[in-house]
Amino acid sequence: MENFKGQPRLPKFAVPKRYDLQLKPDLSACKFAGSISIDVDIVAETRFIVLNAAELSINPGSVSFSPRNSSKVFDPKKVELVEEDEILVLDFAEALPLGLGVLAIGFEGILNDRMKGFYRSTYEHNGEKKNMAVTQFEPADARRSFPCWDEPSFKATFKITLDVPSELVALSNMPVIEEKVNGPLKTVSYQESPIMSTYLVAYVVGLFDYVEDHTSDGIKVRVYCQVGKANQGEFALKVAVRTLELYKDYFAVPYPLPKLDMIAIPDFAAGAMENYGLVTYRETALLYDEQHSAAANKQRVATVVAHELAHQWFGNLVTMEWWTHLWLNEGFATWVSYLATDSIFPEWRIWTQFLDELTDGLRLDGLAESHPIEVEINHAAEIDEIFDAISYRKGASVIRMLQSYLGAECFQRSLASYIKKHAYSNAKTEDLWAALEEGSGEPVTKLMNTWTKQKGYPVVSVKFKDQKLEFEQSQFFSSGWLGDGQWIVPITFCCGSYDKKKSFLLQTKSENYDVKEFASDTNKSAWIKLNVDQTGFYRVKYDEELAARLRYAIENKYLTPTDRFGILDDSFALCMARQLPLTSLLTLMGAYREELDYTVLSNLISITYKVGRIAADARPELMDNINQFFINIFQYSAEKLGWDATQGESHLDSMLRGEILTALAMLGHKETLSEASRRFDAFLKDRNTPLLPPDTRKAAYVAVMQTVTSSNRAGFDSLLKIYRETDLSQEKIRILGSLPSCPDQGIIREVLKFSLSPEVRSQDAMYALAVSKEGREVAWTWFKENWDLILKTYGSGFLITRFVSAVVSPFASFEKLKEVEEFFANRSIPSIARTLKQSLERVNINANWVKSIQAEENLGEAIQELAYRKY
Ligand code: BES
Ligand code: ZN
Repeated sequence: MENFKGQPRLPKFAVPKRYDLQLKPDLSACKFAGSISIDVDIVAETRFIVLNAAELSINPGSVSFSPRNSSKVFDPKKVELVEEDEILVLDFAEALPLGLGVLAIGFEGILNDRMKGFYRSTYEHNGEKKNMAVTQFEPADARRSFPCWDEPSFKATFKITLDVPSELVALSNMPVIEEKVNGPLKTVSYQESPIMSTYLVAYVVGLFDYVEDHTSDGIKVRVYCQVGKANQGEFALKVAVRTLELYKDYFAVPYPLPKLDMIAIPDFAAGAMENYGLVTYRETALLYDEQHSAAANKQRVATVVAHELAHQWFGNLVTMEWWTHLWLNEGFATWVSYLATDSIFPEWRIWTQFLDELTDGLRLDGLAESHPIEVEINHAAEIDEIFDAISYRKGASVIRMLQSYLGAECFQRSLASYIKKHAYSNAKTEDLWAALEEGSGEPVTKLMNTWTKQKGYPVVSVKFKDQKLEFEQSQFFSSGWLGDGQWIVPITFCCGSYDKKKSFLLQTKSENYDVKEFASDTNKSAWIKLNVDQTGFYRVKYDEELAARLRYAIENKYLTPTDRFGILDDSFALCMARQLPLTSLLTLMGAYREELDYTVLSNLISITYKVGRIAADARPELMDNINQFFINIFQYSAEKLGWDATQGESHLDSMLRGEILTALAMLGHKETLSEASRRFDAFLKDRNTPLLPPDTRKAAYVAVMQTVTSSNRAGFDSLLKIYRETDLSQEKIRILGSLPSCPDQGIIREVLKFSLSPEVRSQDAMYALAVSKEGREVAWTWFKENWDLILKTYGSGFLITRFVSAVVSPFASFEKLKEVEEFFANRSIPSIARTLKQSLERVNINANWVKSIQAEENLGEAIQELAYRKY
């Protein structure tokens, strides 16, 4: 046999053109039987056909190849399924004739419970537990449902037929063309699809209700959900119809299929999946309940729908050639989902919220263990790990950077021509750059290669000297190292006003810029802000004078929310990298006391959590003052917002209220805790009380958990009761996410145990890992004790990485670093390798940060002053 084993890609001597697939799932026995006829083009002489298959049992007698132009049928002399490479090797003894032929295979498989391939999900109907059959094929699991060329560049058409129980709904990518009922079974056949990649094939079989609408050009759109919940699909339906219309204009190509179905699946590994014409979602990402969903839930639904629908063009119509270019799919869909959401809900100011993506991208990419956007993939098992903040968030951020450099109109025009050129085909990163370069006349490829082919990003230091600004770039690392990577950096800056924006490309290590004409005075109001609007993927380090001017500008409200966000976030990152003393960061944070912008405050909150944790390790004796200072910062906004919504208030205020109150509860703010307890009691008596609407529920739950102890556990038990009662996934998640915010170690142990119990779907367990700082050690011990179970349940998917990072990264000492390394020394599996290295790097960064805070002089005095400052 030729050597097909251990290869990263399938050989290309046979190419599939059309799949005719029949499947018969058995929902009670959790298995399926199938047969497939694949039109294959033999393009180079071969005796072998090699395609993907995994966890299938192939009936060797059913395998045959029939060339189109002869009556001869070729039977393989050997049929071998190589499990470790997930390939099926058919050896035909003699060379197959060039040209088209039909490959027929009969097979059987299992409806697994691992949320990938063809799997089962469970639900209740009229009090009875039931199975549904669902698919999740991205990145490389179609091979678990049928033998196929399971790589994105092997596009083919699909003609699918399902044999299912007559009373069930059976959906696939395309509309039904015929349904033949035959007693308890029916045969449902679907229209043949346009050419598409295997990872986008989908089918779902179960009991569902739906709501339906049409786009202005007649595309039928439906949202399917569990029986009795159809009204919860209305919001997503509206968003989908508008989004389809919008993308049709933006991409200048109509939606390519005759229908779009979107469906909520109770057990689902990712957030949602863009299967062509049949998009699958977690319930939390699709369903919106007027009464019990929060504003944040609504926003999540809108952005996820906008993201998945973007893929119908960017991903499904034009598909990445190989997983190295995954970021094209995910980075782009993430970016464009903001564009769509902004156009439908301008009052959400979603582009300011985009900075959360930017920050998360910068955060991961500040690690030495990061990876370039374009990453080499040598084995299917490596693909899962690149669905990370680099592909999504850095990807989206560099697209935003480029769009802002080229201009919105030129960007859209070039993009439309890219889509047109590569429709029904595949593309690589360089194809996108070529289209944008052609449309703009700018050196896009050269510019963007510096961002996608090397990992990391620069910190641009800026000094004001002799009427000149001196810019210098170095590679930023959260560890404090400065690397020697170089980028072509689109620099923008404003001096004293937003009317005078300057821009240039920093192409070398350093450059000076004369600012005499407009920054001559040394007046404090003459602030200078780089990276205007935070469109660039880099950090900025200002000299002391410039930093002081910016602080003054923040206090006096001269700056936009995006710029306020950027200054804070860069300072936080520099502080962690030990390039800025904690005192300076805290002083800067004090300038945000009257902050009211949702995104800025929400980042300020998460920074207080992180600083609070590190300070508790470094200087526990200062914690009272630090917490007092944090409470001071939030008091202003908390008083403005209160606990009760005002009539017709903004979406952003509704979200902010919840976050501010949650923060105060976490900080142990007395009045917040007692008010929360009063409202929680009212809620226990009446689930519809106006005292505790969905937007403030999490805050109340967290407050309740702050006071729970092993001997005073009523609040905990009440929360478990609500958890058990509700059938709304968002409510369950709200509770799961609040339970670990408890200082009592015994309770945390119970919470963690609960997370792995049958009462928590395995897709949701990681929400319970957000443990309090007191819970860090308990979580680690629990993790070690339950490693085998965790590995068994999550080991074959990407969710296991969440466990590793949640449990490991909070540590902040070199001893723990060593202990964790030792534990994993003989336990690491390929799918967590990268995450583990990243988490260990974070522990190392934290440990060094602790050391430097311990060495910081005058910190105590500074905090004392900040905590007791009178405003
Ligand atoms: N294509 C992904 C789903 C996916 C993720 C498949 C990981 C296989 C592995 C989908 O388009 C997606 O990106 N979903 C996101 C939600 C989105 C709004 C960022 C998700 O699942 O979190
Ligand atoms: Zn996506």
